[in-house]
Amino acid sequence: MKNGIFNTITIIALLIISSCSGNSDESYLGQWQYTVKSTPNGDVNGTMTISKSQEGEYSGELSSSQGTVQLTDVSLTNGELKAGFYVGEAYLSLTGNFEKTTFKGELKSETESFPFNANKIAEVSNKEEGQTPKASITVDSNPDTKPYSPMIFGGFLEHFGDQVYGGVFDPGSPLSNDRGFRLDVAEALRELKVPVVRWPGGCYVSGYHWENGVGKDRKPTDDMAWGVVEPNTFGTDEFVELSEFMGWEPFICNNAGNGTIGEMRDWVEYTNGSEGEFAQMRKENGYNKPHNVKIWSIGNENWGSHEIGQKTIEQWVPLVVKAAQEMKAVDPSIQLAAAALPSKEWTLPLLEKAGQYLDYVSIHQYWLPLWGENKMPDYMTCIMKSEGPEELISDYINVLEEAGYRNRIKIAFDEWNLRAWHHPNFPRKTVQDYNDPEVIESIEHRKKNLIASQYTMADALFSASFLNACLRHSEDVGMANIAPLVNTRGPLYAHPKGIVKRTHFHTLAMYANLLDSRVVDADVESTLLEHEGTSIPVVDVVVTQDDDGKNWSIAIINRDPLQHASCTLKIGDELLDGSYNATVLSGDSPDAYNDIQNPDRVVPENIKLIFENGVVFLPPHSLTILKVTGK
Ligand code: AHR
Repeated sequence: MKNGIFNTITIIALLIISSCSGNSDESYLGQWQYTVKSTPNGDVNGTMTISKSQEGEYSGELSSSQGTVQLTDVSLTNGELKAGFYVGEAYLSLTGNFEKTTFKGELKSETESFPFNANKIAEVSNKEEGQTPKASITVDSNPDTKPYSPMIFGGFLEHFGDQVYGGVFDPGSPLSNDRGFRLDVAEALRELKVPVVRWPGGCYVSGYHWENGVGKDRKPTDDMAWGVVEPNTFGTDEFVELSEFMGWEPFICNNAGNGTIGEMRDWVEYTNGSEGEFAQMRKENGYNKPHNVKIWSIGNENWGSHEIGQKTIEQWVPLVVKAAQEMKAVDPSIQLAAAALPSKEWTLPLLEKAGQYLDYVSIHQYWLPLWGENKMPDYMTCIMKSEGPEELISDYINVLEEAGYRNRIKIAFDEWNLRAWHHPNFPRKTVQDYNDPEVIESIEHRKKNLIASQYTMADALFSASFLNACLRHSEDVGMANIAPLVNTRGPLYAHPKGIVKRTHFHTLAMYANLLDSRVVDADVESTLLEHEGTSIPVVDVVVTQDDDGKNWSIAIINRDPLQHASCTLKIGDELLDGSYNATVLSGDSPDAYNDIQNPDRVVPENIKLIFENGVVFLPPHSLTILKVTGK
């Protein structure tokens, strides 16, 4: 840090620590998450560590995104802390009291004072000297860059729970427009710049017959996947209208379960045709102009025994070929995906025969398989899944290469999320007895998807890792759709009175709004985060650059739950130095979440990051998007 440039405010923003001495039970030893309240720069967060040497001397340290300082003159008596520290010439004192897992205190300079409060987050510091998480990021000053498809910021909506009904579509709600579209939901989703939405399923589509969802005379039908009654009031025309209203591309997944190739063909004619029986049907329904739906998928997970009308690969390949031929005969301009497993056994035969018709192969993954049991694994269990997307995508690219379709067919990762949706005992693939207590009870369990406290910083950081993997493989990943977009396990929770933006909402918003248009190869070295015998890099990075090659936006994830990561960043021969704009999402603990009562507990903050000789300290469990502007 450079002396002389700090006033009290910046000193506090730079978050430095003090020292302590202890009370009899020594419960203050460990790590504390602190907030300095109401500084002119807003609230400032960081970590305070209190340690005791074998000789019985207390020491401490304060860390924040601005750096780490050692405490001096620490005294701790009966839980009362007195300590001080210098920033340049200025002395700050820190005083206060520890009470079990809370600390209430005051940070004072000569002229000002601020409340300094903390909560305990770890019993003893695991931060030995030399073990601070570290990463070094080196970027060529004149690098090779590649574009990426904004379609990776897509979403998925299924007729399940209240994703559609009571989610995006809520006729009669005071929050909806006269078409039934929820305006608060729409406004929030616009923030995500969602470019494409896949609909109507999911498992649901493998029992869905689109003709039930168009026209004036719509009757409720049985939803064979999810065991409920489908009102059919939201169908193709509503989806297309919603898509126009939102400005996203509609992506229709068709029924390759118990549907026929004829239905698939007719659906394309209904949406895109100018003449013919089904184009006429659309016109009679009030839509004279074709809807022009450009992106279609043949089937959903038809490889799985959970799916209505499961197919073997021997059945699947000819079905895809025939369906593609029929659909393209109606509209040769449509883009086609086909359901696939990301394995050689499924993909090689599929592409050998059907590859010529396809633009995408459609793959799905949820990294925590919670369909049957709604466990809420802790932060570490979740975060250790973060390298899964990178591994799966890299492996699958090798399969596309082997099939001879790399660079011709893209991956549509058209369902992804950290947590699988919770729906025990379903799908059952048959009409249900709606009065059966077992059915009623199983359906009731789905409400557990709405428990707010499970959507923590783990969801935010996992989602960032997923998007980093897609960006790194931007030549091969053409689309990705978070599943779902609204409610269930989606980033946006919509309830009858409003919305809550979950932690991963903010990740998606940051990526869609803050990154530049091209991906740059970066050399990243990181220490490892270890947990239960496995390890992953503690820091994950993606570097982007604008079209002029002058400005950079760098997404950096610090996965460590407790410790700041010390990152060194070099562009060409230059180590970053000085102050840079950044947006940081971290929450005040790894388990922080947003809910109806506290919708803004986890929100991105715009801050100045100070680099010194290339080094910056990034907060624990955080996502940072750093802006480096060229000269
Ligand atoms: O749990 C939801 C289901 O997950 C989707 O309907 C299906 O496509 C996926 O297996």
